[in-house]
Amino acid sequence: MEEQRDQWGSRLGFILATIGSAVGLGNIWRFSYQAYENGGGAFLFPYIFALLTAGIPLLLLEMGFGFFTRNSAPSSFRKIGKKYEWIGWWSILIAFVVTVYYIVIIAWSLLFVFQSFSLGWTADPEGFFFNDFLNFSGSAFQLGGIQWKIFFALLAVWLINYSIIAGGVEKGIEKASKIFMPLLAIMVLIIVFRGLTLPGAVEGVKAFITPDFSKILDWQIWVGAYGQIFYTLSLGFGIMIAYSSYLPKKSDVIKNGVIAGFSNSVFSIIVGFGVFGILGYMANQQGVAIADVATSGIGLAFIAFPKAINLLPGIPQLFGFAFFLSLTIAGLSSSISLIESVVSSLIDNFNLSRKQAVTLVCVVGFLFGVPFVTSGGLAILDIVDHFVNIFGLLVVGIVEMFVLSYVFDLNKIKDNMNKSSDLQVGSGWTAMIKIVAPIFIGIGLIQNTISEVS
Ligand code: PHE
Ligand code: NA
Repeated sequence: MEEQRDQWGSRLGFILATIGSAVGLGNIWRFSYQAYENGGGAFLFPYIFALLTAGIPLLLLEMGFGFFTRNSAPSSFRKIGKKYEWIGWWSILIAFVVTVYYIVIIAWSLLFVFQSFSLGWTADPEGFFFNDFLNFSGSAFQLGGIQWKIFFALLAVWLINYSIIAGGVEKGIEKASKIFMPLLAIMVLIIVFRGLTLPGAVEGVKAFITPDFSKILDWQIWVGAYGQIFYTLSLGFGIMIAYSSYLPKKSDVIKNGVIAGFSNSVFSIIVGFGVFGILGYMANQQGVAIADVATSGIGLAFIAFPKAINLLPGIPQLFGFAFFLSLTIAGLSSSISLIESVVSSLIDNFNLSRKQAVTLVCVVGFLFGVPFVTSGGLAILDIVDHFVNIFGLLVVGIVEMFVLSYVFDLNKIKDNMNKSSDLQVGSGWTAMIKIVAPIFIGIGLIQNTISEVS
């Protein structure tokens, strides 16, 4: 009996959903501070290099693989050999772990959308965030009481995800992407327009794009660039495999992948202009250097931005709303893809209906999320995020490349993609996957391990 597999309804829908997965929390804060810390404009060179040598080739590899097997990650790898199935499950496990805390951050963003109406983060956003909002104990081992507001926001975000994914690929995910992505684009235009028209913006943008060439030979920057590309393109989570397994047989996978891959980076760079325009304005108002306002990590979104919003002329609420809504939407479209990756693997491998699989993932994911809404939550989140990013992604990525290159046959994936695409991949693509990308990612891994041990 031919099993019926969900399918995308349109090419645009697939591209938007893919961009939705790629564009996430990482584009809005992670990219900006990575660029800034790693030498501003000088970072863009390694970043684009990483995009071309690893990002796009691997995106096409995962897409081409899913398009070839028409299955989610574990069963796709099982087609290569029973003993490779674990690679798929490993990426699904990572996807699940990331989902659990990624959704916690979306829940914060959602609550901050409401805070923006009254600038509820007060004149002291830092104190507000750590004390009032998180009631942060400072340690993963001191789990105080549950923060009920965040608890219910977390529940709400899981319910939103549930209702979209339970709707199916075309009627749920695709439909949501067609609403989310244009909305996100509008919000981002507001941010960038506002950011670039403030006094001091030019200084901020200069800090973002002026190259510091003394840093370009520092391999940390290269490692940072490859790490950012992996994260930003959602590689190594089985997502692109699952999403592409829902493509109709005669799709132009290559063109779709290239469009999605470039759009994601263009989005990051555009947002970077807005973010640094605002930071420049804040530095200007406070008479300090950009370096003093450009905090990294989560603080950039939930502390530095509220501080900047407080200082805005006109209607700061509107800007705050646009900023946190874009964070929420970008996050949601990524969490949908993470959950779908897990869900599609459950559907493909166990005798579960979509509804059952989504229910299972959402209930368990929500329960695992509860420790993150206690007063030790932020500390747990930092620890988990650290390990997932350092060891999870790049390791899966490199294993995936090796198995597909040297155990399986890249040509099968390549020919199958080329057959239905206008755009073609050739020996350049193969060389990137077999040689160039593994070298850089390998160096990154060694580097990470060394800095972890020392
Ligand atoms: N690509 C997302 C971002 O930039 C992060 C992400 C990773 C989302 C993996 C889904 C899966 O934020
Ligand atoms: Na991204």
